[in-house]
Amino acid sequence: MNYQTIYQQSIKDPKAFWMQQAASLNWFVEPKTLTTTDENEYTQWFPDGKLNMSYLCIDQHIKSGFGDQTAIVYDSPVSDQRQEISFHQLKEKVARLAGGLRDLGIKSGDTAVIYMPMIPEAIYSMLACARIGVIHSVVFGGFAPKELAIRIDDCQPKVVLTASNGIEVNKKIAYQPLVDQAISLASHSIEKVILFDREQEIDVRFDDQCVDFNSLIAQSRPLDAMPVLSTHPLYILYTSGTTGTPKGIIRDTGGYATALKYSMQHIYDVEPGECFWAASDVGWVVGHSYIAYGPLLNRNTTILFEGKPIRTPDASTFWRIIEENEVKSMFTAPTAIRAIKKEDPNGDFIKKYDLSSLRYLFLAGERCDQATLEWTGEQLQIPVIDHWWQTESGWPILANSAGVELLPIKTGSAGVSVCGYEVTILREDGSPAADNEEGLVCIKLPLPPGTLMNLWRNPKRFQAGYLDRFPGYYFSGDGGFKDADGYVYITGRVDDIINVAGHRLSTAEMEEIVAAHPLVAECAVFGVKDDLKGELPLGMVVLKNDAVNAEELEKELIQKVREEIGAVAAFKKVIPVMRLPKTRSGKILRKLLRSIANEDEYQIPSTIDDPMIAAEIEAEVKKRSMVKD
Ligand code: COA
Ligand code: AMP
Repeated sequence: MNYQTIYQQSIKDPKAFWMQQAASLNWFVEPKTLTTTDENEYTQWFPDGKLNMSYLCIDQHIKSGFGDQTAIVYDSPVSDQRQEISFHQLKEKVARLAGGLRDLGIKSGDTAVIYMPMIPEAIYSMLACARIGVIHSVVFGGFAPKELAIRIDDCQPKVVLTASNGIEVNKKIAYQPLVDQAISLASHSIEKVILFDREQEIDVRFDDQCVDFNSLIAQSRPLDAMPVLSTHPLYILYTSGTTGTPKGIIRDTGGYATALKYSMQHIYDVEPGECFWAASDVGWVVGHSYIAYGPLLNRNTTILFEGKPIRTPDASTFWRIIEENEVKSMFTAPTAIRAIKKEDPNGDFIKKYDLSSLRYLFLAGERCDQATLEWTGEQLQIPVIDHWWQTESGWPILANSAGVELLPIKTGSAGVSVCGYEVTILREDGSPAADNEEGLVCIKLPLPPGTLMNLWRNPKRFQAGYLDRFPGYYFSGDGGFKDADGYVYITGRVDDIINVAGHRLSTAEMEEIVAAHPLVAECAVFGVKDDLKGELPLGMVVLKNDAVNAEELEKELIQKVREEIGAVAAFKKVIPVMRLPKTRSGKILRKLLRSIANEDEYQIPSTIDDPMIAAEIEAEVKKRSMVKD
């Protein structure tokens, strides 16, 4: 069947389409109803169905005779380990950990935070929570204690699951002090911490509050998967919003499982038994959907990679892993490819490996520049597919659905609407944009299964942030345009969110930290172009007086952002300026600042209060470029 036919079916008769997809799952109670609405009138999928994600990811495969198949390949160049974990072994760990959680009094509907590096125990923890209806919230290991504390206060977990340490290339990062600090910063009290000791010579402390992961598993009885309603939240995943407070995206169970199963086969084109690799982190949505749940429920071997595309040990790592595991379909961020291309421009490493298993490389998480896409296609001689989605959607919105029909690739476009999504470009006034006219990327409601149910304890923010702007549509926060063939081109965020190395970060949050410094009178933080990471945050500050040592202040501000958000923010540059450009009503003109800092051509908006400021800023930027870079 071709893409157009199946896409039209999904839009014209969603009931038939999604009921058919849902039927490919092993439900405990098959759903009879496609959707209902909750008290806020938001769509809920398969409300009368019952299932369990942990059962779908593990037990069903064992029952069908695939218990010995490798479920997870843990590949960790940073700790010099490689481990193959079968579905049988996965079940043993997950069922026992679920038992351990229950022994600690954690029950269905409770929340648990998982703050772990890229180790199998992170996936065991997610699946153990899912097994007994505990709603997990994984926090990316690169976030600082304050970020962890913010999430703890918002989702109020009974327990935090963590590990002794992470490893950043060759640097060990002890987690227990970070967790301790987060617990003391948070107002909410944690009952227990479960800590997995990696035995890498990092001091760990077990006490009344902190329990040893391994002892807990050893002493507990394995638990069977518990049927939960399709609408039962599987997880909360925090993502950056346009204010300093992150948003807790709530994901359901049944709609998500249906969408993931569909996407594994119809977008990523992998059949059960094949190997799929998403080189991301379990702390991001890509890790949830395509390291953990998607591949496992489709009975794919998934790769859990603890390392970087370069430096662990070099730019050949991705190709080694593909060869060793016969990866069929892979997903990574353009930044990873740019890093590899910089180290190995002629693809010498690529030529050394047998990559014949690899059919597609999917890219997402940030805008992909043409040079990167073309270089990768030339080197690998396979389709390199840019696709677009968000933490909110949980699975791709725009793509080239390789498993349905591989459409011609148009460089610069993230593809066409995936089945179930009606992606529409709207003008500011809500009218539909013409072909090739840039506007705001929106999706006609209702959203398909798998997408966010709501924001945790904040339906008002959900309504205001996504739904109020254009009634009848979900507003993505991205700008873009659509061509006459339905291909959409994403031009970037239209709000204060930036993507640094594929990591979504809020400049508003950084701005709050910078503005809080006693020597800063005013500031703006915004994203500027970066050849490697796509975007990097840049701060511009107006100082309270001339006597301030700008270099010292820059160091302090960098350190502050590192301490409060984490090194992952990559906040490394601050330029002092005399004044910031503003509208007559006092709003800082960030777009103008961004254009000046990027050395793009710019137009001075008619709303500016003093047109001379643009030239002043330009001079400051040039001065700084000459002195420092
Ligand atoms: N725990 C602790 N610190 C972390 C961390 C973690 N889980 N992840 C990143 N960091 C730190 C890094 O050590 C680095 O610290 P530094 O400033 O002291 O060097 C900082 O955060 C930035 O990390 P990163 O973005 O990984 O940059 P890098 O310079 O170390 O490596 C790349 C550059 C290109 C190799 C890397 O950015 C990369 O692999 N990018 C692709 C990312 C990706 O796949 N994103 C997709 C998400 S869907
Ligand atoms: P996240 O929620 O972390 O997945 O980030 C989602 C945001 O990343 C989107 O709203 C986009 O701004 C950006 N993004 C993701 N994929 C792409 C892509 N293929 N092209 C351009 N931007 C992308």
